[in-house]
Amino acid sequence: MAHIIAPSLLSANFADLKSAVELVDGSPAPWLHLDVMDGVFVPNISFGFPVIKAIRPLTKKVFDVHLMIVDPDPYITAFRDAGADRLTVHYETCNHLHRTIQAIKAAGMKAGVAINPHTPVHLLADILADLDQVCLMSVNPGFGGQRFIPGTYRKLNALRELRNVHGSSLLIEVDGGVSEQNVADLAGHGADVLVAGNSVFNAPDPAAAIRTLSADI
Ligand code: DX5
Ligand code: ZN
Repeated sequence: MAHIIAPSLLSANFADLKSAVELVDGSPAPWLHLDVMDGVFVPNISFGFPVIKAIRPLTKKVFDVHLMIVDPDPYITAFRDAGADRLTVHYETCNHLHRTIQAIKAAGMKAGVAINPHTPVHLLADILADLDQVCLMSVNPGFGGQRFIPGTYRKLNALRELRNVHGSSLLIEVDGGVSEQNVADLAGHGADVLVAGNSVFNAPDPAAAIRTLSADI
């Protein structure tokens, strides 16, 4: 399967989000990745409902919302109402992950779980069948523009095997440090979705960067 590029708005010019969304809208990238940070789970605060709601009318692209917040349960329907199509929560933030995943699906969204670089893939074995996507963090979450952690390749292999064992069709997403240097390797290792912030929005020509990253390997 050809991989999906999900440009991350976190690296866009926040003074001109409209242009950033329109750029993605006119690109081959089918998804837009939206990072919500609470300053508690991660040492940064990004944006929330009003921003997602404001940009929703600008594009029909899939809104892939990545929650880096503690206790996401009370906010699930609010993210749906703001325009999220897919909602990913962190394994490390949910005491009752099964309940949280069911609530996301009941709200009409696709459900994902993200795991930090230190969290082993096998911890997802008993929730895998319920998931639409798993996001492997290839940096420690909180900031764009960080260096890719190479151990992610091992986790990609392990997750692919686990997906086979469970006969699941979930999408495997890799988030952090994705660039023209590693995109082919990551797709070759079975990543279905590649999030790209810095390598898109800080490129001299972001539209060309999305085209290059999206090219078949
Ligand atoms: C990091 C975020 C990422 C970030 C990726 O916590 O989850 O989505 O935007 O940015 P780059 O591609 O610059 O590493
Ligand atoms: Zn993200």
